[in-house]
Amino acid sequence: MSSKFYITTAIDYANGTPHLGHAYEKVLTDVIARNARMQGQAVHFLTGLDEHGQKVQQTAQKENKTPQVLVDEVAVVFQELLKKLNISNDDYIRTTETRHKTVVQDFLQKLFDQGLIFKANKTGWYSVRQEQFLNEKDRDENGEWPEIYGEVTITQEENYYFKLSQFQPWLIEHIQSHPEFISPNFRRNQVLEFLKEPLNDLCISRPKSRLTWGIELPFDPHFVTYVWFDALTNYYSAVLPKNLWPADVHVIGKDILSPPHAVYWPCMLKALNIEPPRQLLVHGWWTIKGAKASKSTGNATQSMAFVDTHGADAFRYYLCREMTVGQDANFSDDTFNTRYASDLQNNFGNLLNRLLNMVTRHYQGLIPQVAADEELEKNLRRLWEETLTKYQAFMAEYQISHALEALWVFISALNAYIETRAPWKLAKSTAPEDRARLDSCMAHVAEGLRLVSTLLTPVMPATCDKILINIGGQPAQTFKNQLTWGHSCTGQKVEAVCILFPKIEPTPEKPA
Ligand code: MSP
Repeated sequence: MSSKFYITTAIDYANGTPHLGHAYEKVLTDVIARNARMQGQAVHFLTGLDEHGQKVQQTAQKENKTPQVLVDEVAVVFQELLKKLNISNDDYIRTTETRHKTVVQDFLQKLFDQGLIFKANKTGWYSVRQEQFLNEKDRDENGEWPEIYGEVTITQEENYYFKLSQFQPWLIEHIQSHPEFISPNFRRNQVLEFLKEPLNDLCISRPKSRLTWGIELPFDPHFVTYVWFDALTNYYSAVLPKNLWPADVHVIGKDILSPPHAVYWPCMLKALNIEPPRQLLVHGWWTIKGAKASKSTGNATQSMAFVDTHGADAFRYYLCREMTVGQDANFSDDTFNTRYASDLQNNFGNLLNRLLNMVTRHYQGLIPQVAADEELEKNLRRLWEETLTKYQAFMAEYQISHALEALWVFISALNAYIETRAPWKLAKSTAPEDRARLDSCMAHVAEGLRLVSTLLTPVMPATCDKILINIGGQPAQTFKNQLTWGHSCTGQKVEAVCILFPKIEPTPEKPA
């Protein structure tokens, strides 16, 4: 029976151009979603755009356009990125859509009716950049406001507050009794540490005198709602008609775990008597020369040029292979070029071409049958079984880089098997046992490649489809009955040549 699997990315802020961090999160989520689909799960993959808030309003003003015109333009750019990266999302939510706004207002009204939202007058330090009041504990060790808060001024304001603090004991208990809720585990410990301090109630409104670009409070037209209250609700509003809640996985970066996803969101849902999401999968940051990739780092958008020069699949592979989910990773042209040359061109791509070349030359393009079965072949098949077990175990924990590492050990073993068998020598021999070995070698390499390409389809979909077609088969839609060694390629007609990873002339480095 197929089980439901609802997975989301964070929704990107609509006040900039997409960069490496945005791209990575989509790729990671896409790989998990595609993998789950091939396992037979009923996947729903949601991504989208966070379109309200002060920054969007300010950017629109600066560019002399309405916020709606601005976000419509930005949405096109972000959606183009999805296409370019071959992201298989089932839906795209924009927080200015009616289907979203009505749910946000419904949430607010319900909380208000239950007495969980109250009005208060507060004077305090306010960060325009983060659109929030700050507490003394937000200062750094020198007593200064950290740079992320931008300009901080004393502001006095009447606002609406959500009784967040009331849910703190429940939240702590929930996190403790659901160890899978926050992954990786060290992030869960950080959240529990954060929850040792008492929570403040959450300011969920902004007066229209300061911010008009937001969703109006249904019970007070002089206010709009706080951007996080609005944004988090997307995960629920988008699937309300489909009845897919709770989300199985929210994929997010470490900067938005606590408090938004680990504190506000589960408490909002609890207050509304709605189940919390099952898991927050928290990835680290891509850095470039040690600094977080962001819209202000020119290189973060420039690094995306590799998609155009080397193709989406090479880019997807690099991101998945280079970052251990949960940790930070550094993007550099050198590591990209090295992985492209060694893992993709010389190892994976070379394997396919060796096979196509030999089958074309010695078998008129038809993959032969296994004729000899010796220790070498048995070892190869055993290694496949071990690799598959490892790969699937890592994927089940979303440890994609480790899964790929294990798979590449097998790809290298296929190349080493060719070296040991030396088919170019076998082809010259007239002994029948050598011909049998040559047959087996072709059949084993073809089968090995079929298995690798099937398993790897979620990471490099276009490349794997191409390989499977080139060895005379079909693109893989499912893993079912496809991952056991079976020599199903015998008799298939291969193409003469296929360049998966062309040689790319290095482009001169552009100034950042
Ligand atoms: N709009 C909010 C999220 C609301 S979700 C209800 C937001 N947007 S964002 O555009 O700033 O970030 C979107 C996602 O990209 C976040 O998960 C964030 O962690 C991720 N990344 C942004 N820069 C990143 C890196 N340099 N590296 C990896 N991912 C990072 O936050």
